[in-house]
Amino acid sequence: MTEKKSTKSAPVKTAASVKTNKSTKSAKNTKAKSPQPEKVVSDYNGYDYKKIFWEDADREYEDQADRLAIRRLLPEKMDKFVDIAGGYGRLAKEYLGRAKSATIFDYSKTELKQAKEEFGDKISTKAGDIYNIPFKDNTFDALMMIRATHHFNNMPKVIAELYRILKPGGIAVIEVANKRTLPKMFRYWFRGSDVNPFDKKPSNLKGLNKDGFYNYHPAYIEEVFENAGFEIEEVLSVSNFRSTTLKKIFTPSFLMKLEKPTQKLFAAVKFAPSIYYKLKKPE
Ligand SMILES: C[S@@+](CC[C@H](N)C(=O)[O-])C[C@H]1O[C@@H](n2cnc3c(N)ncnc32)[C@H](O)[C@@H]1O
Repeated sequence: MTEKKSTKSAPVKTAASVKTNKSTKSAKNTKAKSPQPEKVVSDYNGYDYKKIFWEDADREYEDQADRLAIRRLLPEKMDKFVDIAGGYGRLAKEYLGRAKSATIFDYSKTELKQAKEEFGDKISTKAGDIYNIPFKDNTFDALMMIRATHHFNNMPKVIAELYRILKPGGIAVIEVANKRTLPKMFRYWFRGSDVNPFDKKPSNLKGLNKDGFYNYHPAYIEEVFENAGFEIEEVLSVSNFRSTTLKKIFTPSFLMKLEKPTQKLFAAVKFAPSIYYKLKKPE
């Protein structure tokens, strides 16, 4: 790889950014434009994402909401499955019982080591960069990619890579960081936010040339999926009650009682912070 590690501290709390000195070419079979052609990797090496972001933080509701959506969307039986940007395998228990073989692919060797420590031979791991995934065409029956799109500044290229490694008829379950949420609408209307949630262009509060939190309008991302060749089979609205205030008032199990029916009910409006898509690569 030609990546240079940033010697500066990370611009985001979670991970250091690594910029490549190669531009990323647009995917051949996608027409949607990326916001910014330069490749930026959010480098979690040396960062204890598991402990800091999940174990020591108040995110039980979000974790449960992710799990429910995955249980609903992933095929019951899969031969070869890959968890893309799967980190330390937080969600592995949701697919290990359904897949004959499971692999976690991620840039962070720190996290892949943690996955191996926890799951041993039950899981394979592969390190690499999403913009050039080191798997052959048509390898997997199914894949998922959860809580990763906010790191990627070239979604057409990422989605083309996912399409390439899936077999015809294969299923991709992809969580997308949504730009068009209710809190973002309120911030835009009443608090002077310059992020317009109705504008289809991807946003990044840190600036489009920096590592950070890219958010995607549902209409933009759906165009990216369709231009890559995917068919959209199902949509869920996930983490509908992700709010510091609600989490202070209600227990995670109460919020999950609300979450259960609303994942499907609110899918039509797509206002939640996480939108889950079940996509199919045509036969
Ligand atoms: C927020 S974590 C999510 C991990 C896991 N999917 C989950 O939900 O727990 C984002 C993951 O994306 C990985 N990542 C970021 N940029 C990447 C890249 N360019 N290629 C591969 N993985 C990348 C990070 O190493 C990290 O594990």
